[in-house]
Amino acid sequence: MAAEYDALVAAPPAAQLVGHRIFVFDEIDSTNTYALEHGDDGTVFVADRQTAGRGRLGRAWHSAPGLGLWFTVALTGEAIEGLSFAAALSVRDAIASLAPGAPLKIKWPNDVLCAGRKICGILVEHRAGRTALGIGLNVRHQREDFPEELRAKAGSLATEIGGRWDRAEVLRAILTELDRRIILLRGGRLAEIHRAWADACALAGRAIRCNGVEGRVREIDARGALVVDAADGTHAIFSGDLEYLDGQ
Ligand code: BTN
Repeated sequence: MAAEYDALVAAPPAAQLVGHRIFVFDEIDSTNTYALEHGDDGTVFVADRQTAGRGRLGRAWHSAPGLGLWFTVALTGEAIEGLSFAAALSVRDAIASLAPGAPLKIKWPNDVLCAGRKICGILVEHRAGRTALGIGLNVRHQREDFPEELRAKAGSLATEIGGRWDRAEVLRAILTELDRRIILLRGGRLAEIHRAWADACALAGRAIRCNGVEGRVREIDARGALVVDAADGTHAIFSGDLEYLDGQ
């Protein structure tokens, strides 16, 4: 087991739903897959290395050993609306609590950027009464640790903020933020989380390109869709890779 997590596993945040039990794997195919098959409500699965880490839009997620925080929160019951918004806000605020003033942003739909580089991705999957909230955070990578094709856009806490990072400390901070927000969502407070996330995306009025649509963002609607005014009319876009056409 990755020894770095030992103390957290031995004394998990018991008062919380999220992370009251934490399991660590040296290697697994994907923590999301495992959580979808085995997860009890609030259990967290962490892996030092994933051999088949999954990203959004059917992509692979680069999950090298020793460098990143690769984990999934399992939740049971109905799918929770707004979970990915809550997760992006939680990662941003957890990192900000450990590195005040770090230049963090949320990029629609739920990437966390630091100094303009993607440091974190979020993948929510739901199957047969179980939800896997998967979070991949690049922690100790140096530029050369990323595959060539990611180097221009990816960053880590180490490359963008510097210093030495303890993955267990980062995980504990994220789980605490997540716990608070998941309890809000389960208590019917989606509108609050949605508003905070949409404000953080800061897209209204911006010129963007996404899924071949170019135009100006009118708003992020209640479903989380990007509403874009383009030359051929208004489009609602639910997922995709967003490019800003008017600067970072
Ligand atoms: C993205 O494409 O931006 C989402 C990446 C999500 C990666 C995480 S790492 C832990 C969990 N297990 C997976 O297989 N994927 C998610």
